[in-house]
Amino acid sequence: MKDALPQTIYLKDYKVSPFEIEKTELVFDLGEHHTRVTTTLSLLRNTLSDEQNADLVLHGSKGLDLQSVSVDGQPLEEDTYNCDSESLTIPGLADRAVVTTEVLIKPQDNTTMMGLYRSRTMYCTQCEAEGFRDITYYLDRPDVMSEFTTKVIADKAQYPVLLSNGNAIERGQLDGGRHFVTWHDPFKKPAYLFALVAGTLSCVEDSFTTMSGRQVALQIFVEEKDLDKCDHGMLSLKHSMRWDEEAYGREYDLDIFMIVAVDDFNMGAMENKGLNIFNTSAVLANPKTTTDASFQRVEAIVAHEYFHNWSGNRVTCRDWFQLSLKEGFTVYRDSQFSADMNSATVKRIEDVSYLRTHQFAEDGGPMSHPVQPDAYMEINNFYTLTVYEKGAEIVGMIRTLLGPDTFRKGSDLYFDRHDGQAVTIEEFVKAMEDTSGRDLTQFRRWYKQSGTPQLAVSSRYDAADRTVTLDFAQSCPATPGQPQKQPFVIPVKLGLVGESGDLPLNSNGDTDIVYEVSQTHQQLVIENIDEAPVPSLLREFSAPVKLDYAYSKDQLIHLMANDSDGFNRWDAGQKLGFELLEKLTADSHQQRPLQMDSQLIEAYKSLLTDASLDPAMVALMLQLPSEAQLHEEATLIHAEAIHSARLFVRQALADALREQFLAVYQRHNIEQDYAPDASQIGRRSLKNTALGYLMLVDQMGVELASKQFAGADNMTDKAAALSCLVNCPAAAQQAKTALQQFEQQYRDEALVMNLWLQIQASNSQSGALERVEALENHPAFSLSNPNKIRSLIGGFCNGNLVNFNNPDGSGYEFLKQRILTLHSRNPQVAARLMTPLTRWKKFPEPNSSQMREALQVIADEQGLVKDIYEIAIKSLQ
Ligand code: TRP
Ligand code: ZN
Repeated sequence: MKDALPQTIYLKDYKVSPFEIEKTELVFDLGEHHTRVTTTLSLLRNTLSDEQNADLVLHGSKGLDLQSVSVDGQPLEEDTYNCDSESLTIPGLADRAVVTTEVLIKPQDNTTMMGLYRSRTMYCTQCEAEGFRDITYYLDRPDVMSEFTTKVIADKAQYPVLLSNGNAIERGQLDGGRHFVTWHDPFKKPAYLFALVAGTLSCVEDSFTTMSGRQVALQIFVEEKDLDKCDHGMLSLKHSMRWDEEAYGREYDLDIFMIVAVDDFNMGAMENKGLNIFNTSAVLANPKTTTDASFQRVEAIVAHEYFHNWSGNRVTCRDWFQLSLKEGFTVYRDSQFSADMNSATVKRIEDVSYLRTHQFAEDGGPMSHPVQPDAYMEINNFYTLTVYEKGAEIVGMIRTLLGPDTFRKGSDLYFDRHDGQAVTIEEFVKAMEDTSGRDLTQFRRWYKQSGTPQLAVSSRYDAADRTVTLDFAQSCPATPGQPQKQPFVIPVKLGLVGESGDLPLNSNGDTDIVYEVSQTHQQLVIENIDEAPVPSLLREFSAPVKLDYAYSKDQLIHLMANDSDGFNRWDAGQKLGFELLEKLTADSHQQRPLQMDSQLIEAYKSLLTDASLDPAMVALMLQLPSEAQLHEEATLIHAEAIHSARLFVRQALADALREQFLAVYQRHNIEQDYAPDASQIGRRSLKNTALGYLMLVDQMGVELASKQFAGADNMTDKAAALSCLVNCPAAAQQAKTALQQFEQQYRDEALVMNLWLQIQASNSQSGALERVEALENHPAFSLSNPNKIRSLIGGFCNGNLVNFNNPDGSGYEFLKQRILTLHSRNPQVAARLMTPLTRWKKFPEPNSSQMREALQVIADEQGLVKDIYEIAIKSLQ
């Protein structure tokens, strides 16, 4: 535990800052033993504050070694201010004052990856959410916005490149081989958007001409060895800049936009003004070392951070309870962008699978919280799937309700009205209301109520009246702190699928309508329907709810083949697979014999033999619901039974459809040069899905995989083949050799070695934990690199559910120990590792008690950081 019990921060306690900071001048003197930060703040009292005599209380942290404080140039005596481990308090300031502080910090010892720290040979920063206070004393809150000037001084030989936000306005030589660069950012910004980088970096340069004809210099800084991995990031950046002009009318504002790639980073990337800092895994890409999935992830993250320049930076958050204002909106924007750049349906299916598997699990667990939370202990724990992904779904629902044109006008109004301001989610909704004239009062509940709503639907066809009657009932389970819920506004996009396709729903001939369910119970009658149709509900997944409709198998098969909505075609297949798996899981748990469903085989067969279908869609439809998804949907998780049932169905499909899988594999074995475009990605995805099934049949699969592994000219095929071999009981020897060859070939490519670790960590055959523990001693692993922790430890705990949840408790014991090792070194990474343990209530004995005990031991640990404490106590309740 901390010195005192961690405090809870409440939204209702928000008050404006008593002081504003007009200008911020920073001088960083980067030295071998310490870094000296001199901060000059031009302060004035905030006329909006009701505390006109308040002391100045600057945020700080333990690591700041205060050297001096002065006010208007006069050094302060030590007894005229107060300094503790969290703040620096200066009483009695005039309405305007210039406060200068000087602190020493030790970035070289900073393992938290917040504030100023070292990643390999370079210095870099991460300030969101509250890392700036680890650099200097400041009003570290997003509603305090200031104009920054930053001078960086360092040894010229070791740190030739010195970067900060905005434009470089001066540079020069200093004595002792040192040099400096001064940067000025003309846009007022909160401290969380500050960034600094120093190191030996190579740069790839390009330029972009904005819609108004301005030239913007684009630079990606990397270590020299990675210069061959920047093209895709640069292209993604240019596509993003153009797209934001076209789709949202947003033009870039500075004359320069920089991206820096760093190896040690807690998250994907950070949108610092004009100087984005990226995890290497989120920007570097090259066909030889990068999979298709990573190419697409790079494109999406580059876009996400770029889009923040408007949704986050130009218009920022008033306080951290508003985090989804920037994150939900920006995720929504980047998913629209990816949909436009690739296949919209494929993107939607991927997003929804992710949401349903992970966000639904979060929303149904002990950490469940509203998209706009009303309390937190540690803000870093609220960079969640709920704030990001569910937040994005809410924005999408607003667009569905208002229509695309009105939505665009609403976003224009929002950006115009609030440019340069720090605002709340309310302001975003208000702009949408003002544009559309629509009352969104009830809709706002999406931001305030946690939990995943359930929507039960039934339908009746009356042949005499020629009507279809749909009955809707919505409910939402109790979540922590919210026993009762009010009804939501649920936009249900729907259609009726007849014998030969979609039926017209009205006199306009529309085959799609958006029906709004806003009451607990509601009825919709559709007239002039000549046949008994199958309802296609929640098309494109128009609302983040759990839909419950008692489809028969025949109806699902009909939707799979005939629904005009691609998302629902896929979803029908998922439901079919899910129902079978649910039954077989129960059978397996009860040790009853398992029996395959011939209708599923037939449905898969049609998918495999219809060459007119989009390969990417077929690949998605051939994937059964994942184990993680089955865990989410289970009332009580029998991990072993889920695993066996799923394997049984895969085996049965492979046995029955060997010829078809082989034909598909051969048809999509691409001869062209590699390109990470939607069409090739779809074909590779289908081919490798087929290979996965073929591995289960006979030695032929092993041979195909070995051949693919040896011959692949791209990492997608190489890694897929490796993964197939590693997971195949009949390929033990081939897998061993392939792993060794892979290691030989890529030992100097950190990101590729992470994939190597992850593939092994997720090998579901027995003995997994021993393999993972052995790999912890491999030079490719390190507990000080978050990507490696995510690959190996995360790969095991989240990607190898059957072994992690071994009823002997060894998986939980392992994870508990790693969390205890890591928590003070890197609280954010350790906190994210907690997730699997928080799900203990969904497990049967003995797992449940074992997980609970592991959490209890963690909660009882001395000196626990508040990140971990908050999750431990909330999930023990
Ligand atoms: N704002 C970042 C984003 O684009 C999130 C982020 C990056 C972050 N690094 C962080 C949040 C460190 C907290 C701590 O989504
Ligand atoms: Zn973001």
